[in-house]
Amino acid sequence: MLKQEINELLTQTGPGTPMGALFRQYWIPALLAEELPENDCPPVRVKLLSERLIAFRDTEGRYGLIDEFCAHRGVSLWFGRNEESGLRCSYHGWKYDVTGQCVEIPSEPDERQSSMCAKIKLTGYPLVKIGDVLWTYMGDPRATPDLPQWEFAHVPAQQTYTSKRWQECNWLQALEGGIDSSHVSWLHSGGLNSDPLFRGARGNAYNLADRKVFFEVVESDGGLLIGARRNAEEGHYYWRITPWVMPSFTMIPPRGDHPIHGHFWIPIDDENCWTYSYDYHPVRSLSAAERQAMKDGHGVHCEYVPGTYRPLQNKDNDYMMDREAQKRGDTFSGVKGISMQDASLQESMGPIVDRAKERLVSTDSGIIMARRKLWRAVEALRDEGVRPPGVDVAHQMVRSAAMVLPKDQSFVDGCGDALRVRPGEKHASV
Ligand code: FES
Ligand SMILES: [Fe+2]
Repeated sequence: MLKQEINELLTQTGPGTPMGALFRQYWIPALLAEELPENDCPPVRVKLLSERLIAFRDTEGRYGLIDEFCAHRGVSLWFGRNEESGLRCSYHGWKYDVTGQCVEIPSEPDERQSSMCAKIKLTGYPLVKIGDVLWTYMGDPRATPDLPQWEFAHVPAQQTYTSKRWQECNWLQALEGGIDSSHVSWLHSGGLNSDPLFRGARGNAYNLADRKVFFEVVESDGGLLIGARRNAEEGHYYWRITPWVMPSFTMIPPRGDHPIHGHFWIPIDDENCWTYSYDYHPVRSLSAAERQAMKDGHGVHCEYVPGTYRPLQNKDNDYMMDREAQKRGDTFSGVKGISMQDASLQESMGPIVDRAKERLVSTDSGIIMARRKLWRAVEALRDEGVRPPGVDVAHQMVRSAAMVLPKDQSFVDGCGDALRVRPGEKHASV
């Protein structure tokens, strides 16, 4: 249970809000690199943290993320012409560079151009390609942190794949689904044995056999390590460790030799978020079959309404609920696919769930600690200007792990280095 004012504090991320200030401390995914595929390609509308922006890639290949609306009379620059090193408004031809600086007001006399342009600059944020993602930083430029170091974005291109989907609910309830490992034994029980990116791992049997998960959650520099413990062979436990790094990065514990996957949840506004879903293997290329399975919407990915990043299964079609499949047990909820099983239930809570009404139990301990950590960080930033966990790139060098450990060993001791990025070394997985 969470008081209404704390729920608002954690869920509102627009300009001027405390949680919005926290999100503006980080480099966050703004769009996929595939959305701006070549120089002078069409600009893309991007709404982030309730700000309406436009992303474009200029003639020299520079990326920019600027205010969507022209400084002259407020026309959307989505209609603009992306040409000759800038974005030109379609109404009266004012032109902006990738920083948002106005560089031309063609209707004015030549001799006044430079003095007039110098005074006009739209809000502009940096946009940097790392891996398959274009990242932005929307905070104070004087405090720009080091560029993100997430392993999935830095391994060679053939080892990684990232997709995104529009999720129609607040970012926090989506994140909470990502750190709630107990639902896997229920909601995803059908998918563990059938999904090509999950099936075949020894760990799946432990998952399905023991549905009374015990959670042990410990603080890490960047957030939390959420350990979920299930029974394994005599004298042993099966541990699944999910790292959460603030504000909204999670990595799902791996299965067998399958690639590791995880998510970023990025607020579009308070009632919508982007779910970025990555899959990578630390030491080998993804096979053609794996890459195809990801494109086809298996694992943590989804199928789309053609030409959009909206899932094909969405609330307008009841996520293509299949009651027969539910009855047969092919799927637990009747919704197909791991990602849409998650999204359908998270969206079903409403755009912003009322946390004053919930009844939490022991398996929610990760969620309780994550909220507390967020809340503390929001207040420390607001009241004392303390830089939050997860900004430091050292905090980003984490891996999830799935291991069988002797019963008398804590997961922190047993997993040791397995929870850190070890370049060239495989992830710990059963
Ligand atoms: S509104 Fe953009 S140039 Fe006039
Ligand atoms: Fe899930």
